[in-house]
Amino acid sequence: MTTSTGMSLMEALRVQRSIRRFSSKPVPDDAIRTILRAATLAPSGANRQPWRFVVVRDPAHKRQIGEWYDEGSRITYGDRQRGAAPRAAAEERREPTFSDVPMIILVCVDALSTNPGPHSDFIRGASVYPAMQNLMLAATALGLGTRPTTMHRHHEADIKALLGIPESVDIAAIVPLGYLGEGEHFGGKKRKPLAEVAFQERWGQSIA
Ligand SMILES: Cc1cc2nc3c(=O)[nH]c(=O)nc-3n(C[C@H](O)[C@H](O)[C@H](O)COP(=O)(O)O)c2cc1C
Repeated sequence: MTTSTGMSLMEALRVQRSIRRFSSKPVPDDAIRTILRAATLAPSGANRQPWRFVVVRDPAHKRQIGEWYDEGSRITYGDRQRGAAPRAAAEERREPTFSDVPMIILVCVDALSTNPGPHSDFIRGASVYPAMQNLMLAATALGLGTRPTTMHRHHEADIKALLGIPESVDIAAIVPLGYLGEGEHFGGKKRKPLAEVAFQERWGQSIA
């Protein structure tokens, strides 16, 4: 099956990558709905579907969340970016992260909708990140860029207060969404060779 842009699933898997420069071109509402519907097709523990999504377009809110993200990034990496992800275009211009993207999508998970018990933290994450990946692949198929980000975690409580997100809900990731900015491209990901990460029959016995 191919998508409306003619991209096969295997092609979307191959070319989807973290986009750091966005265009200000508006994203049609239909595309957002298609992408969110794709997210909700993911599997989840006991099919509890604990994911929740908040699309934020308000420039003041994006700016505030971007400032909190940048502070989290400084706490994690300091001012050095060695070993860290490359800076986004907005950061390079000394604008807060996310100020150049039409919208950010908060990928959330509601603890009240997941089963309690051993490994519940693990299951909670495992029941939301497949949805985030579906979202990013669907966006790629429609020619839209995304990037999983997590630096907001230092200010999660502030973001929840700002947007009225309930206590039981975790913000698992924030995904910027928009058309690709100047100099950006799909494809060209760097990955370890299969022989290093996939084994058969016994650990260490290469499959490649
Ligand atoms: C759990 C997770 C957290 C991430 N957090 C951030 C982040 O806070 N900021 C960021 O710019 N990229 C973040 N990334 C993106 C990774 O840096 C990126 O996926 C990785 O370098 C591989 O590059 P690619 O996605 O272009 O293939 C995150 C990715 C994952 C899976």
